[in-house]
Amino acid sequence: MILTCGKGLTILLSDQKNLLLESEAEGNREARMNDEHPVVIVTGAGSGIGRACALRFASEGARVVVVDSSEVDGQATVDSLTSRGATAIFCHTDVSVEEQCMGFARSAVERFGRIDILVGNAGIRIRGTILQVTGEDWDRILGVNLKGVAFSCKAVLPKMIEQKSGAIVLIGSTAALTATSKAPLYEATKYGVIALTRNLATEYGKDGIRVNAICPALTLTEYHIKRAQSQGISLEKLKESKKGYGLLGRTIEPEEVAAAVYFMAGKEAAMITGQYLLVDGGFSVGAKTLL
Ligand SMILES: NC(=O)c1ccc[n+]([C@@H]2O[C@H](COP(=O)([O-])OP(=O)(O)OC[C@H]3O[C@@H](n4cnc5c(N)ncnc54)[C@H](O)[C@@H]3O)[C@@H](O)[C@H]2O)c1
Repeated sequence: MILTCGKGLTILLSDQKNLLLESEAEGNREARMNDEHPVVIVTGAGSGIGRACALRFASEGARVVVVDSSEVDGQATVDSLTSRGATAIFCHTDVSVEEQCMGFARSAVERFGRIDILVGNAGIRIRGTILQVTGEDWDRILGVNLKGVAFSCKAVLPKMIEQKSGAIVLIGSTAALTATSKAPLYEATKYGVIALTRNLATEYGKDGIRVNAICPALTLTEYHIKRAQSQGISLEKLKESKKGYGLLGRTIEPEEVAAAVYFMAGKEAAMITGQYLLVDGGFSVGAKTLL
């Protein structure tokens, strides 16, 4: 009896131990998976800075959720990631529509089971003085640059809170701090992104979630290239005209912004939250900054 009991107990113990070892191994595997292959959502990843971020995270082993309102560009980013052996999915999304943001978060969780990082990058610009722009312009830019960023955060936060971890990096702009873009709507929304960054960092720090902003200055992405081309200016001429920009004498490359985003989202920035970092080649130095 006692023997049986003892034997039973031994078996039970060893079974439990095996189970424990198995679940430990599973846990370690999962932890390693999350460390080495975090799930990263990048909005506006079909072009420019967003695409550079998606490529950078993927090159470091991340599983990437590409979010963009352009199906062609978003899919092209996914194709270029998967052709390099990365894991990526595309979520065709207009970030100004709350339900669509909920949709990309749902897809990320359905496919990968978690959300480690959000890069809230999708943004548009509308030029013109306050006298020139219309109410429609205001609605459009607020919808993408501010509500779209807030909806993207709202969509990922419940999962991050459940996980008790997460990093959000929002893309602001140096222009919001220097008032140099001649685009008051744009600057107002980007200033709002900084306010949102600080608010969310304050609210969700207790849940292990960090929120920071990266504020680039002039980065020659498709946006600037297409705009110049529409005015008959080639990329070479555009670059030439920007020689001497900032303290380092040149404009910023999308990959250089992506490097800062990657740092801010990662473990090296574990104690940085509620901050904004200017990636501006020193452009703002000497300018009157607003914060
Ligand atoms: N390029 C710069 O000089 C510069 C400087 C400072 C800040 N920024 C900011 O960096 C971010 C990226 O800029 P970029 O120059 O790479 O722009 P971009 O125009 O090259 O790319 C923006 C991407 O966002 C997508 N997008 C636009 N509206 C969207 C929406 N409603 N929903 C989902 N996706 C949408 C576009 O399809 C595009 O793929 C923006 O927030 C911009 O304000 C850029």
